[in-house]
Amino acid sequence: MDAMEKIVSLCKRRGFIFPSSEIYGGLNGAWDYGPLGVELKRNLKQAWWDDMVAHHDETATPQGAPQPFGMVGLDSALLMNPKVWEASGHVGGFSDPMVDDRETRARYRADQLAVYALEFIGSDGKLERYDEVLFAAPGELGKSAPAELFEPHRKRIASLQKSKPGKEARPVAVPGALQDEALRARVLAPGASAPGTLTAPRAFNLMFKTHVGALEDNSSVTYLRPETAQGIFVNFKNVTDTARVRVPFGIGQIGKAFRNEINPRNFTFRSREFEQMEIEFFCRPAEAAQWYQYWRERRYRWYLDLGMKQANLHLREHESSELAHYAAGCADVEYDFPFGRSELEGIANRTDFDLRQHSQMSGKDLRFFDDQEPNEDARRFLPHVIEPSAGADRGTLAFLCDAYSEDEVGGEARTVLKLHPRLAPIKAAVFPLVKKDGMPEKALEIYRALKKRWNVYYDEKAAIGRRYRRQDEAGTPFCITVDGDTLSAGSVTVRERDSCQQVRIGVAELASYLGEWLGA
Ligand code: GAP
Repeated sequence: MDAMEKIVSLCKRRGFIFPSSEIYGGLNGAWDYGPLGVELKRNLKQAWWDDMVAHHDETATPQGAPQPFGMVGLDSALLMNPKVWEASGHVGGFSDPMVDDRETRARYRADQLAVYALEFIGSDGKLERYDEVLFAAPGELGKSAPAELFEPHRKRIASLQKSKPGKEARPVAVPGALQDEALRARVLAPGASAPGTLTAPRAFNLMFKTHVGALEDNSSVTYLRPETAQGIFVNFKNVTDTARVRVPFGIGQIGKAFRNEINPRNFTFRSREFEQMEIEFFCRPAEAAQWYQYWRERRYRWYLDLGMKQANLHLREHESSELAHYAAGCADVEYDFPFGRSELEGIANRTDFDLRQHSQMSGKDLRFFDDQEPNEDARRFLPHVIEPSAGADRGTLAFLCDAYSEDEVGGEARTVLKLHPRLAPIKAAVFPLVKKDGMPEKALEIYRALKKRWNVYYDEKAAIGRRYRRQDEAGTPFCITVDGDTLSAGSVTVRERDSCQQVRIGVAELASYLGEWLGA
């Protein structure tokens, strides 16, 4: 099993993540969070909400920020007036180029189907190009490993190889092959019996359409939101009119988003239904560049503060050619997943694009009025926006991958999730050493007392070693064991998950001891 397969298997086995509606064969791109998974994801969202919105200290100037700022929250509806999506550009432009295979009926994102010719290299270093047939394989052009490319065409390439003894085949990228009619006719798609079965790329809108009300005609069309951000922009005026906020300030929102992805893949990484944690931060245009710097650093640091390994986490500034036409800057927080380095979160300087679009489309003046600004000319203005946009499912997956670890304890292999205590689904487990001598009763008493404060778990089944292993796999930071000394001397053993070290603590001190590690 490779690393990703092991994580998927642990998630299924221990009840973190299941395929959606599995008993009916599942639904591609949709996932359900089981008893442990729902706690982990809720803890991640709670940490984001606490750190970014609720407990943000409005009076302190955060390190690196140009000045103090306020943060408020929002929970907007999933269904919105369809004009929102016209103004935002999603109706016209939220699409991926897609190609269909007429023979196999498979559908690909054109930018994720790479096309290669072959080059045969002899021992004398001479090259011979073969491009009578071009080979298409899933992956980004130039990034697929030869093995991945050759896999769907293994037999065909092996027979070509036979006709050129002593020469080794290697792939050569053919950019633009799917767009060029003549080249496309020579492309052999994965699983197709002959070349020329792929259609030309065409735009495929990723928004899920639905109808509001009983009539299913054009007048009732709306969309499941593809991002939470627009719910914030359309409420900008409501919030500034009611929440006594002054620019600079931010609005945070956590919620579901839906995208009809052409190829959902890599477990929950690219799903059709997922959750976002987004901030729209409104500031004066002249300060936008500074705030952009502030937020890219702040968001990067947040993952580290929750225990993510720095070696796996990267902040990548986009090239200007990658930027949307309205954006003045964009950086991705990227994580080294087992399937490769990929985006966890994007931080973008969106200028005044969204508020301007919604002002024009709705006819409402969305400029901010700063009544404390001494310069009369500068009182009314359209704020610029910095948008840190994170995925709760991608974040959950990244923390699972980062925490997954295998080691050996007492000569026995163990699997352990080294999750930060804030994220751990279960904070502590309480065990009676044996099921007699009053130990279960005492353990249940301790369990009930701790349960008032934390999500703790009681287990009296199986040998103590097996109970430890179960909690290691669930990522539980502490296991508390009630033994003979508990009854005679009033103390328990507390075993720490990562080091497996045990300390003896008085029952009376237990809550304050755990509190130091687990917080409130
Ligand atoms: N409002 C900006 C916006 O939505 P995005 O880069 O399209 O930007 C932001 O999405 C984040 O949402 C991504 O970094 C990712 O974490 C998450 N996300 C986007 N599409 C996703 C998908 N299909 N499955 C899971 N998460 C996704």
